[in-house]
Amino acid sequence: MSNNLLEGKKGIIFGALNEMSIAWKVAEQAHAQGAKFVLTNAPIAMRMGEINVLAEKTNSQVIPADATSLEDLENLITKAQEILGGKLDFILHSIGMSPNVRKKKHYTDLNYEWYKQSMDVSATSLHKTLSVAMKQDALNDWGSVVALTYIAAQRIFPDYNDMADAKSLLESISRSFGYHYGIAKKVRVNTISQSPTVTTAGSGVEGFDKFISYSEKMSPLGNASAVACADYCVAMFSDLTRYVTMQNLFHDGGFSATGVTTEVMDKM
Ligand SMILES: NC(=O)c1ccc[n+]([C@@H]2O[C@H](COP(=O)([O-])OP(=O)(O)OC[C@H]3O[C@@H](n4cnc5c(N)ncnc54)[C@H](O)[C@@H]3O)[C@@H](O)[C@H]2O)c1
Repeated sequence: MSNNLLEGKKGIIFGALNEMSIAWKVAEQAHAQGAKFVLTNAPIAMRMGEINVLAEKTNSQVIPADATSLEDLENLITKAQEILGGKLDFILHSIGMSPNVRKKKHYTDLNYEWYKQSMDVSATSLHKTLSVAMKQDALNDWGSVVALTYIAAQRIFPDYNDMADAKSLLESISRSFGYHYGIAKKVRVNTISQSPTVTTAGSGVEGFDKFISYSEKMSPLGNASAVACADYCVAMFSDLTRYVTMQNLFHDGGFSATGVTTEVMDKM
């Protein structure tokens, strides 16, 4: 199905690591809707070369960039405009990583050097990207920036660890930058708070399997899939959502508004 919702639009998609990545699905859906874009990921994440398969499939080029490096981001945003032949209309920030989660440090006993890395990679990278884009005047009026987040920013999910702090920061940056970029250029900035989804980053969280089935039973519509998330991202990049900005948008089958379900009660 294609309605060419993104025909004529140009963008950058961060974070497609492999076929399971949410960003991978966004690239596929955006391509199907007529968008042209550049793919990017951290140089180290490209070792397996899987992103080249996606690049070929979506007729796009790959520019490596560590999203914590201003120099890499400057190069990425300059080159993306050269390759695509003009200013950009959308950016997907689909980046998350916590060394504390990876190395199983408890939230009450964090390694603070790793904590800084979690914040830098998972949250400050959005600020850096927006700041570089603004300085280069790289986004067209009514451009749309989306970052992916999780409800652990608002409620406690103990095993999400310091990623909860990172997501709170990410959502706050999206709101604050959304204000300034909105006034300066009518650019909108939002976060999409996605259901737990089986991906490389998702599976790094302790007890993820059990948690995903709990969430499924706590969501009246069930967990939202990565493809459904990609569809929502496409809608947010399109002109049909022009007055949505500075929002944290739940894309979770109703999980965030549900106190309890009969299915969960029956298991007690
Ligand atoms: N999977 C879930 O359950 C879930 C739920 C809600 C939100 N999210 C969010 O969705 C986003 C995408 O995650 P995913 O689940 O598709 O997993 P993923 O592992 O496929 O994607 C994470 C990406 O971050 C990239 N990355 C890490 N460090 C980087 C750096 N320094 N510079 C540039 N890129 C870097 C990785 O290479 C990878 O491509 C993340 O923000 C994640 O927190 C995921």
